[in-house]
Amino acid sequence: MSDPLVIFTPSGKRGHFAKGTPVLQAARQLGVDLDSVCGGRGICSKCQVSPGYGEFSKHGVTVAPDALSEWNSVEERYKSKRGMLDGRRLGCQATVQGDVVIDVPPESQVHKQVVRKEVTLRDIRLDPATRLYFVEVDEPDMHEPSGDLERLSAALEAQWQTGPVTAPLAVLRKLQPVLRKGNWQVTVALHQGHNDVMAQIVDIWPGLYEDGLYGLAIDLGSTTIAAHLCNLLTGEVLGSAGRMNPQIRFGEDLMSRVSYVMMNPGGDVAMTNAVREAMDALAVEIATECGLAPHAIVETVIVCNPVMHHLLMGIDPVELGQAPFALATSDAMSLGARDLDLVSINPSGHIYVLPCIAGHVGADAAAVALSEEPGKQEALTLIVDVGTNAEILLGNTTRVLACSSPTGPAFEGAQISSGQRAAPGAIERVEIDATTKEPRFRVIGCDLWSDDPGFAEATKTTGITGICGSGIIEAVAEMRTAGLVDAGGLIGSAAQTGTDRMIAEGRTHSYLLHQSAQDGGPRITVTQGDIRAIQLAKSALYAGARLLMDEFGVDKVEHVVLAGAFGAHISPKHAMILGMIPDAPLSHVRSAGNAAGTGARIALLNRAARGEIETTVGQITKVETAIAPKFQEHFVNANALPHAVDPFPELNRIVDLPKVSFNTNGDGSDGGRRRRRRG
Ligand code: FES
Repeated sequence: MSDPLVIFTPSGKRGHFAKGTPVLQAARQLGVDLDSVCGGRGICSKCQVSPGYGEFSKHGVTVAPDALSEWNSVEERYKSKRGMLDGRRLGCQATVQGDVVIDVPPESQVHKQVVRKEVTLRDIRLDPATRLYFVEVDEPDMHEPSGDLERLSAALEAQWQTGPVTAPLAVLRKLQPVLRKGNWQVTVALHQGHNDVMAQIVDIWPGLYEDGLYGLAIDLGSTTIAAHLCNLLTGEVLGSAGRMNPQIRFGEDLMSRVSYVMMNPGGDVAMTNAVREAMDALAVEIATECGLAPHAIVETVIVCNPVMHHLLMGIDPVELGQAPFALATSDAMSLGARDLDLVSINPSGHIYVLPCIAGHVGADAAAVALSEEPGKQEALTLIVDVGTNAEILLGNTTRVLACSSPTGPAFEGAQISSGQRAAPGAIERVEIDATTKEPRFRVIGCDLWSDDPGFAEATKTTGITGICGSGIIEAVAEMRTAGLVDAGGLIGSAAQTGTDRMIAEGRTHSYLLHQSAQDGGPRITVTQGDIRAIQLAKSALYAGARLLMDEFGVDKVEHVVLAGAFGAHISPKHAMILGMIPDAPLSHVRSAGNAAGTGARIALLNRAARGEIETTVGQITKVETAIAPKFQEHFVNANALPHAVDPFPELNRIVDLPKVSFNTNGDGSDGGRRRRRRG
């Protein structure tokens, strides 16, 4: 009679094993992904499996009730002390006695798939750089003298095949007491980076350590710093938090921060300190909110634009402010927590910073490329990460191009007369009736439209305070479709448009969106200056995309992805009416949410992804907008709403833009056009 057949699900791996073989051993021999921290000692419970009994016609086996050995005392002890689901067995205790089908539940898989909440292209395969290992270490022997670290290293190699390991001073200092407290049984957190020759011990605990390992994925933006705290053993996001980048007090946009450094010796040090302190405080805040000690954070991944990158590293960013925009290094960086003054997290924790693509296209764009994978798409895909500086990727399986374009902060509500950051009370959605020219809107924090019953009551606490970035985009686009603004961006007068919502202001006009001055609230208007600011921002964005299309040799794209926290809120239709993005079927325009943050999370949870993005970045072609001769031409043509030259057939299929013209100067100018500086 042949040895019993063991079939594992969901992998489908199968093999024959001698009676008495532990399930964990069978799994290992077949390469089945079954976890074990304690190495089969029956104390970690990571190896839990669910055996199936009865008829399995799909597999052609019948599993008898005694296909596995009897429930043993180790399992009983574990179940009574810690609890275990009925039907579960410990893979290291149960042995094979007959043909059996064994399911490995997701929580027992080391490389489980972490399901992304975002519109998903792929899930993340869990394979963090830092993992836990339980080991039994030989006691010291006077006759064979050796150091505790050497014996720990030998134990790790013998029991886990880790190769030789090193330990930083902070670990060495606690090594001896921990080994003795654990009675020569310890749990080690071991970091093995994707390029490391030798693994490094990050921390060590007596006995079996069961409080988990945690990592931070940080998207360091010029305006905000966002962090996600992830469980490195499950991939779960435990919490997210954000705070303003304190460097704002040195300058709103990147170039003003670079100028601050040029004008103020030592200004870079002040900014470096400010951002490091903020990141450390954010780590403490998010860990505390999740009920963890900040020391439990052993891995951090950071993505940021090049200027933020240099200011964080303590590298003078002055070279990034002038052609040829040379980075000190574009390579990915592996650092220690203390290198960046993250004093509250684990002192031996590791930091990985994604590579930058070019002097103006940073690690944040690399993270977007990691998350959205333009180089793996058959369809030509344009990815726009909308922020103060738009970062743009265009590509398909043949090649990927990247550039950045200086949109300025108008899309974030800055430089807009009634503009504000996205916060409760800010107008975020706008509709204007094409016949009556009357507006209705929604504010952040309330689901009702302004003409719904109960709106005034519902917005009493927040008030109606201003317009945020997505609100101003919708307002301008709706004004264009309602015939209140012409293709050149000029606002019509009350007489030209037939509505007394148009208010004369010197030689230009404004559109009254909301009036609550009688109640002590603000008067919210869209001014000619606001439209010009939006035109400048969107022209820069479109011109950048157009340059990449030139380089690719195409005049249309198949898919458009809006990334960035703000991109998540932009209405694709309104963005296209404004000509922010090239013409494409609306169903092919989607939001990817905070793709840079997602990319950071992928690099945190899967070390192979780090190697992958380093290779990808090396293959991306960088296009420099600042020196491209055609940028200015594309910029000027993109000033019109939606565009002076490009036809936008897909948009015309769904929207009929009125052919109005409010130009009374004869040359189309209102003297308000300015060229945006990079920032
Ligand atoms: Fe740890 Fe089974 S491997 S309990």
